[in-house]
Amino acid sequence: MRIDVVTIFPDYLEPLNVSLVGKARTAGRLDVRVHDLRDWAYDRHNTVDDTPYGGGPGMVMKTEPWGEALDQVLADGYEAGARLPALVVPTPSGRPFTQALAVELSERPWLVFTPARYEGIDSRVAAEYATRLPVYEVSIGDYVLAGGEAAVLVVTEAVARLLPGVLGNAESHRDDSFAPGPMAHLLEGPVLTKPPQWRGRGIPEVLLSGHHGKIARWRRDEALRRTIAHRPDLIAAADPAAFDKKDREMLSILGWLPGPDGRFGPNPEAMEE
Ligand code: ADE
Repeated sequence: MRIDVVTIFPDYLEPLNVSLVGKARTAGRLDVRVHDLRDWAYDRHNTVDDTPYGGGPGMVMKTEPWGEALDQVLADGYEAGARLPALVVPTPSGRPFTQALAVELSERPWLVFTPARYEGIDSRVAAEYATRLPVYEVSIGDYVLAGGEAAVLVVTEAVARLLPGVLGNAESHRDDSFAPGPMAHLLEGPVLTKPPQWRGRGIPEVLLSGHHGKIARWRRDEALRRTIAHRPDLIAAADPAAFDKKDREMLSILGWLPGPDGRFGPNPEAMEE
């Protein structure tokens, strides 16, 4: 996969040299190129922003530097043989970045990121490139960052670990929280490793039993427990067919029952006044 990032803070992307993404680059599975937007700002002060039409606080990133930068980055990529670019525009007004979207992006051969500072990029830029390319406006969460660079790091890491050969054990994707499959509606439960005793805390007997069926069941019960505690909305939204008989028993122990439409919710009788 090829990744281009255009930013006014190229140094912010240094972490892409480290750890999993850094290794994927060294191994030749990921070709990352970071570009300084100011290389395409031609006035004396290398201006990349201006005041918003209609007034209001803050500054808006200008069309011309972005247009020239993207034209050149795209032309260079095509020249180098890259195909089918998609533009990824980090913005708090974008669609939520999810594991499903990470999977979709990981299947594309070339991503071009446009992290913005200030109040964002003049909206005509995304509209212009959307006539030629898929454009993904994505938000990594319901909070406002000072710029999109941290979002580029987040999206790149989530995507890179899905690329073939990047994680040692491809099976580990299957059990990811949020991944399509058995864990689609569940958070992963606790994980434990040696030593078997630490500050008086042991390991649940079942994990030492070697009984794969019982271990899988324990993990699933713990996942249900943790999901009810941290993300009950995931259980409430899940297709009830996702829960087997044992899941239902556990949900009932946790005070969750099927409602009239079959979906699970907290047992009203168990709720406090
Ligand atoms: N830029 C600023 N805040 C952001 C967010 N939550 N997601 C993506 N890009 C952003």
